[in-house]
Amino acid sequence: MNGMSVWIAGARGQLGSAIYKILHENVNVEVLTSDLDVDVRNMVDVDSFASMNHPDVIINCAGMTDLAMCERNVEEAYRVNALGARNLSIAARKVNAKLIHISTDDVFDGTAKQPLNEFDRTNPLTVYGKSKLAGEMFVRELAPKHMVVRSSWIYGNTKNNFVRYILEELLTEDTIFVPVDQVSTPTSAVELAKFIVKLVNSSEYGIYHASCEGMCSRYEFAKEIVRLSGKNVNIEPLTAGENPSVVNRPRYTLLDNFMMRVSGIYEMPDWKEALAAFMAGKESE
Ligand SMILES: NC(=O)c1ccc[n+]([C@@H]2O[C@H](COP(=O)([O-])OP(=O)(O)OC[C@H]3O[C@@H](n4cnc5c(N)ncnc54)[C@H](OP(=O)(O)O)[C@@H]3O)[C@@H](O)[C@H]2O)c1
Repeated sequence: MNGMSVWIAGARGQLGSAIYKILHENVNVEVLTSDLDVDVRNMVDVDSFASMNHPDVIINCAGMTDLAMCERNVEEAYRVNALGARNLSIAARKVNAKLIHISTDDVFDGTAKQPLNEFDRTNPLTVYGKSKLAGEMFVRELAPKHMVVRSSWIYGNTKNNFVRYILEELLTEDTIFVPVDQVSTPTSAVELAKFIVKLVNSSEYGIYHASCEGMCSRYEFAKEIVRLSGKNVNIEPLTAGENPSVVNRPRYTLLDNFMMRVSGIYEMPDWKEALAAFMAGKESE
């Protein structure tokens, strides 16, 4: 990575901040960060930042990630998740940078019966998933040197995520109801960040699925969080249809890290091991 310059867009989010923590330890890398100060919706701002700094690699962690907010603000979801990706793709092409774009398991419709690899058909159901797929399309069409990294159920230190939600509920509730019919894999932001940092300096291109290994339902995920917390709280299964406040999320979106395996470049850890390290505050960077 000698003398390399890397721009992290969306650097204050869960994943962006985890990537920053790893990269800024490396004295041979110049790390450029932006968040809302370089609004990815704005082509002129994105272009100016890229033209001024000439990064070798751009990592797009910026996104509108709140599913319910995306449902309520469809056009805004597309502005951030699709046009933002388009603007960064055009900027990457202009300065000849590699673009690493982060996407999601929500590009699938949840009807699969087996793990989904990079070549399986996408068919998003939610506004979030649709706008993220539109972003992927822009990246593939407009950025000659690109990687699309899809992951699932990311949790990290910065803001609202499922682990934090359950830990907060534990403080006040005796019983927590959690969907049993949503299946995928929890992924630690730090573990995903390690893989993305590996990509910065690689000659890999294309789509990569990158979730922790293993699988579970949201219900099993919650049970494991409670077990690791040592608290005595009841976790009760719920189906999505039983809770009208739950956005109609895809049900089964288990990502198979197929390209990672066939290219032999990396192996993600098991989700339970990663979660235990996160909850014990022992994640290594
Ligand atoms: N979280 C998950 O479970 C998950 C799963 C799979 C894939 N992903 C994808 O992974 C990426 C990172 O996710 P994350 O969990 O780290 O999300 P996050 O914590 O919500 O981080 C996204 C960051 O982007 C910023 N942002 C929003 N609009 C922006 C704009 N117009 N211009 C510049 N920055 C903007 C956000 O700022 P504000 O917070 O102030 O809005 C936030 O700091 C996203 O692309 C997401 O779609 C997430």
